[in-house]
Amino acid sequence: MSDAYMPGFGNDFETESLPNALPQGQNSPQKCNYGLYAEQLSGSPFTAPRGTNERSWLYRIRPSVRHTSRFSVHEHEHWKTGPHICDDVMPIGQLRWDPLPMPNEKTSFIEGVRTMTTAGDVHTQVGMATHAYVCNTPMVDDYFFNSDAELLVVPQTGTLEIFTEMGKITVEPTEICIIPRGMIFQASPVDGEARGYICENYGAKFTLPDRGPIGANCLANPRDFKTPVAAWEDKETTCRVHVKWCGRFYVTEIGHSPLDVIAWHGNYAPYKYDLKTFSPVGAILFDHPDPSIFTVLTAPSGEAGTANIDFVIFPPRWMVAEHTFRPPWYHRNIMSEFMGLVHGQYDAKEEGFVPGGMSLHNMMLPHGPDTMGFEKASNVDLGPTKLDETLAFMFETRFPQHVTAYAMGLETLQDDYIDCWKGLKKRFNGTIEGNWD
Ligand SMILES: [Fe+2]
Repeated sequence: MSDAYMPGFGNDFETESLPNALPQGQNSPQKCNYGLYAEQLSGSPFTAPRGTNERSWLYRIRPSVRHTSRFSVHEHEHWKTGPHICDDVMPIGQLRWDPLPMPNEKTSFIEGVRTMTTAGDVHTQVGMATHAYVCNTPMVDDYFFNSDAELLVVPQTGTLEIFTEMGKITVEPTEICIIPRGMIFQASPVDGEARGYICENYGAKFTLPDRGPIGANCLANPRDFKTPVAAWEDKETTCRVHVKWCGRFYVTEIGHSPLDVIAWHGNYAPYKYDLKTFSPVGAILFDHPDPSIFTVLTAPSGEAGTANIDFVIFPPRWMVAEHTFRPPWYHRNIMSEFMGLVHGQYDAKEEGFVPGGMSLHNMMLPHGPDTMGFEKASNVDLGPTKLDETLAFMFETRFPQHVTAYAMGLETLQDDYIDCWKGLKKRFNGTIEGNWD
């Protein structure tokens, strides 16, 4: 029952925490060893094509039907679900926030989820939500599963221990964790408090992007993804299982822990990934590719090349392009971009976008380097330089992102963000050189 992992992305794993707990040669023996119950957890329809067919077999102390009782409605004030369109909230404008403050009152990981934006529709399994989380207390006898989505957790400060049905994952800043749809878990801050970001994916699961001409290596390599070995607890106390289902919250009380899987095998499982192992590919002579070159994981929609969500990072890297404006260029985009910063500085915005902060550049709204960033990048000596000690990321979706009333009411919303472009001067004066005074 240790914090140990198996390498690989989407592998068919197998793990047992007691000898011979895992049946060999079949899934459903007449009687399982140790008196365990056999149970299948399906992450795809039974008939999904082989490449996207996902299921695991779990061998547990009690079957999952004993891990819920009667449900009652449970309110969660700050966790919203798409469609969630607030008529009285201004939906457009370039937006940026400073970090959420840590809570004063006791707040668990689930209680600390604060929805910033929603996109798409949970009822048709398209779209996503972006959240920030803040927490300062362990879940102890509280457990949670999300029927609506898989969760991509991006810690910004503080380590989380995430105890899932299928094993324990410790995830710290610069790492990410994926918790599949429907999986029971509890998450607790290891060092007293923690803050970070969550992308709640209502649609098809995250997978690795195709690399095209890049070939068989670089970007996120499959062996760097880590899936936990089986871990369990045999605890007989009053426990609460919280459920998110079509945007509403329910709770059910049981007399034991639902984390009772002794052994499992299959390819539907949680995993973590260290973003420091991402091998970036970029321009080695001039210009630079679109930011999609930094895609770690992509959640496809039904339309080729048009992601429900791309999870993109901006990691430390060398800048070597000659006669080139090196930061991200000015642009407008049909996709909608929510950004966060784990640590350091982002090269297009050296000030104002701080670790733990967030920004939103929604569908077709223009953005790009601030005035200072433009001036600097236009005049800098273009020797090889390393962007170091930085890690920004983006949750980018094909759907417009609707801002919550909570997000628009935050004191940390920067009223003056739009002013960062105010100083961009007219350089055109009819001469080829332009006016750079
Ligand atoms: Fe952008």
